[in-house]
Amino acid sequence: MCGIVGYIGPKEKKEILLEGLQELEYRGYDSAGIAVIEGDKLHNFKAVGKLENLREKTKNYASEGFGVSIGHTRWATHGKPTELNAHPHLGAYSYVVHNGIIENYQELKKELQEDGISFLSQTDTETIVHLFEKYHNAGATPFEAFQKTIERLEGAYATLLISEAAPETIFFAKNGSPMLIGFGAEDVYFASSDTPIIGKANEVYYLEDGEYGYVENSTVHLFDANGEKTFVKQPLIADKAMAQKDGYRFFMEKEIYEQSRVMGETMMGRVLEEGIVLDELEEGFFDGINAIKICACGTSYHSALTSAYLFERLAKVRCDVEIASEFRYKEPLLTKDTLFITISQSGETADTLEALKMAKRAGLKSLSICNVDNSSIVRESDTAILTRAGIEKGVASTKAFATQTMVLWMLALYVGQQKGTIDQPTLKQEIDAMLHTPKALVVTDALHAKLHRLSKRYLHGHGFFFIGRDIFYPLALEGALKLKEISYLHAEGYPAGEMKHGPIALADSELFTIALMPKTMHYDKIKSNVEELSARDATICAISPLPFDLADDFVQTTYSSHPMVEFFEMMVVTQLLALEISVRLGNDVDMPRNLAKSVTVE
Ligand code: M6R
Repeated sequence: MCGIVGYIGPKEKKEILLEGLQELEYRGYDSAGIAVIEGDKLHNFKAVGKLENLREKTKNYASEGFGVSIGHTRWATHGKPTELNAHPHLGAYSYVVHNGIIENYQELKKELQEDGISFLSQTDTETIVHLFEKYHNAGATPFEAFQKTIERLEGAYATLLISEAAPETIFFAKNGSPMLIGFGAEDVYFASSDTPIIGKANEVYYLEDGEYGYVENSTVHLFDANGEKTFVKQPLIADKAMAQKDGYRFFMEKEIYEQSRVMGETMMGRVLEEGIVLDELEEGFFDGINAIKICACGTSYHSALTSAYLFERLAKVRCDVEIASEFRYKEPLLTKDTLFITISQSGETADTLEALKMAKRAGLKSLSICNVDNSSIVRESDTAILTRAGIEKGVASTKAFATQTMVLWMLALYVGQQKGTIDQPTLKQEIDAMLHTPKALVVTDALHAKLHRLSKRYLHGHGFFFIGRDIFYPLALEGALKLKEISYLHAEGYPAGEMKHGPIALADSELFTIALMPKTMHYDKIKSNVEELSARDATICAISPLPFDLADDFVQTTYSSHPMVEFFEMMVVTQLLALEISVRLGNDVDMPRNLAKSVTVE
C-alpha cells in the first residue's frame, strides 16, 4: 500500500520526508521519491527499491529555509515498479503524489493526450498533475485549478500537489484513501497514517472523504462540497506500534477490517455496469483457450478451488485446480488449449513458481493473479492481474484471499463475456452482487463482540470440522486453515455431504462443527447434513442468515441475495472466530509458530 508524507515549514525537509517515509515502510513499497520547492528552486529525487537507494541519491542535497515538500512510497498497481512510475509525478512545473486509484484515468489521459500532453509514466496518478496544469494554463488560479482537477477525479485518492505556480502552498484532497494533517509549533505535516508525524506534530486532523484544500503560511484552508469549513484538531497518540496497526491489536485484525475497502480498490475500473474490463488482458487473450488449469498453495489454493465452480458455472469453461507441490511431480498431461493460472499473494512461493515454469516449458499460455507486482511469479507469467490488496503482514492470509477470489470471479465473468457463454441478465446479476460485496465485508462492532464472546466455548475439544457445499466447501477449507494456523487446534474443512462417508464417526459433544449454511445455495441439503451431526451430539456453531434451532451457537449473517455475497460475509465470520480463539489462547496472531509469510523453499 502506498504511503504519503508532506511538510510545509522552515525545517530541513529532506530528512523530514525520508524519516516519514521510513515510518511508512511497514506498509510495503517498491519505489520511493520526494519533491521540494524552496523559493524558485525545485528538487526531485526518485529511486526504485529500498529507501536506502533514495537516501543515497539525495545524500548531497539538503533543503534550506522555508519551503513545501512531498514524498511517497509506491506499491505498484498501474505500471511496473520503475523510476518513471515512482511518485512524485511531474508536470511542466508541478509535482503530485497520490494513494488510491483514479478509476477514470484512461478517459482523462486520452483527453490530455489529445491536447498534446505527453505522459512519462504508465500510472493513473500522472493525470492529476497534467489536469491541474491544463486548468492553470487556461487562466484559473492555482487553487481553482486544483478544485477543477479534483472535480474530475473518480475513484479513491489521497493526494498532495505542489507547484511553482504557488511555491508556498501545498494542495491536498482526500476521497476513499486515508490522509491526515499534523500540526507542529510552526509547521504543518501530511501523512497517510499517524506514524510519520509522531514526535513531530502535537495535534492532528483526520481528513474526511470529499475534503480538500490548501495550506499557506501554516494556515490550513479546508473545503468540502459546501465550501470552506472549520475543523477541530485532536491530540496525537504517540504509540508507534499501535499507530502502524491503525489502532488494531494485530496486523491480521487490521487486515480483516481493511477487506471492505480493498475490495473496492480491486474492482475499481474493472467492474463496470456494462461488464468487466481487464486492461491487463490483450484483445483475443482467450482465443483458442478451451480449458483452465490453476495451481497454487495454501489459501491461494482455496481461492482457486472456489473459482473452479465459477469458471464452469458462469463461463462454461472446464477448470481444474491443483496444489502446486503435487502438480510438479505427477507428470501432468498438458495441452496448449489450456490457460495456466497461478495464484499467489507473495508471488514468490517456490512450488507455485516451479509449476508455472513447467507449464511454460510445455508451451501453455500463463496468467498470474498476484498481490506483488514484479515478483518472480508475475515476471515469469505472460500476463498478470494484480489483486490490489496492499501489503499483507499477518502470516495468516485474509485480505489476499478475499481479493484473489474477487479477481477470479471477475475473470470468470470476463471469460463468459469474451466467449459469449454468459447471458446479459446473468452478467448483470453477478455485477450487481459484486458491487455489494464491500458492504458484506464490513465488520460491525456487534459481530466482532459476538465472536469474541462465542470464542471462549471453542478453546478445547478434539477437533473442528468446517463444513459447506459448493463454493462454501473451499470456504470451509479456508476457515479451517485459518483456525489451524493461529490457534494450533486441529481443524478440517469438509464437503458437508461427505461427512456421512466416514468423518461422522468422530461426532460427539467435543467435536465442534462450524456449519456454513447459506440461504442461496443448497440450504436444505446442508441443513440435513448438520441435523445428522446434531443427532450424534456434535456441538454445532451455525453461520447462516436463517435461524437454525439445532445450533448450539448461531451467528446470523445479514446478506442473502447472492451466494458470493454470502460467501464473503461468512468468510469474515470465520476469520474473526479464528482470531478471537487465538487471542484467548495467548498465541502470536501475526507470527504463528512454525510458519513464514512467504515460502520460498520447496
Ligand atoms: O504467497 P502465496 O499466496 O503463494 O502463499 C501460499 C501459502 O503459503 C499461503 O497462502 C499460506 O497458506 C498462508 N499462511 C495462509 O494463511
